[in-house]
Amino acid sequence: MTRYDLSRRDFIKGAGTVAAVSALPLSLVELAFADPAQNFTFAYISDSHIQHVKGAKFVRNWDRGLIRAVAETNLLRPKPDFVMFGGDLAQLGTKEELDHGAEMLSKLTYDLKCVMGEHDYYYDLGEYWSKLFGDQHYSFDHKGVHFVVLNSILTDHEWTYNRWPTAEQRMLEMAGLDNPNGSPFMVGEKQRAWLAKDLEAVDKSTPLVVFSHSPIQKIYKGWNFWTDDAEEVQALLKPFDKVNVIYGHVHQIQYNQIGNIAFNSVMATAWPWPYPQSYAQADQHLPKLTVPMNRANPFFERDATGWQFIDVGTGRVALEFNLYNNTNRTVAWNSATGQPEDSAFQDAARQIAPQTHY
Ligand SMILES: [Fe+2]
Ligand SMILES: [Fe+2]
Repeated sequence: MTRYDLSRRDFIKGAGTVAAVSALPLSLVELAFADPAQNFTFAYISDSHIQHVKGAKFVRNWDRGLIRAVAETNLLRPKPDFVMFGGDLAQLGTKEELDHGAEMLSKLTYDLKCVMGEHDYYYDLGEYWSKLFGDQHYSFDHKGVHFVVLNSILTDHEWTYNRWPTAEQRMLEMAGLDNPNGSPFMVGEKQRAWLAKDLEAVDKSTPLVVFSHSPIQKIYKGWNFWTDDAEEVQALLKPFDKVNVIYGHVHQIQYNQIGNIAFNSVMATAWPWPYPQSYAQADQHLPKLTVPMNRANPFFERDATGWQFIDVGTGRVALEFNLYNNTNRTVAWNSATGQPEDSAFQDAARQIAPQTHY
């Protein structure tokens, strides 16, 4: 079901009769807050990896992914309250790439907020990105929800400042998916101190939504689907009743629950990553992280790219994944099980098994 050019009333009316949307807890959304006006939606676009070739030439496919996401977001009904961009706007962090990406994002007809990705950062350590988009970490309040944006892709001083002879090489070393010369990401002590102070003033019953680029959990170190100080950040979020962490970077659908924290990933507009060969290499204490994408061809770069429409109700998020060349999927909070779920794809018989690579 598409949301384009549907009024809110039409959408709600339609939802009761369309089985595919039943995963979206619309009744919950409507009952969510004492004042229903508090329920709201926002859109999420991430990982566009705009890549400069030379002169005025950019990789066309990555451009098309972002242009399409912006155009579709502008057509949304109901209109989202704002749009988040989840990081990795650029591929190699250059001024040309960031300018070109910013120009495409400027076509959005909504307020835009941005998260820093490693591909935006490691060329000039975030300097030009900050000129375009502002702070690398910040918080804001919207309709009773406290939002926090973190720069989770920092790493240690030695790797950042001393290890590489040039900025270009530093960027290339961090840009590889499977590169042993990379370095684990972290939020870092300074930002954690800021977060602790920011959260001090927030009532513990206030719903919290945290945006990061890398997952604030340890999924797969080999591919840097990992944040080294994840546990320390999680500890700061622990006192809150309802916490949602939304992250990009992994270019695939993942969801998870650790204690009080629900984790949801978002798609890339550029290309999907295959699933790591085995999540068994992740720490044993982690529960099952994901339901495999119903994805016919992992090497077809449009088979699992897209963007998200996010409902916030009861202080929980429901992500509707708008996939360019695949069935749309919804991952919504299930109040019965107390975790996020993609209820339409729970049945293993309905899933296309993830292919083995190489
Ligand atoms: Fe990315
Ligand atoms: Fe990334």
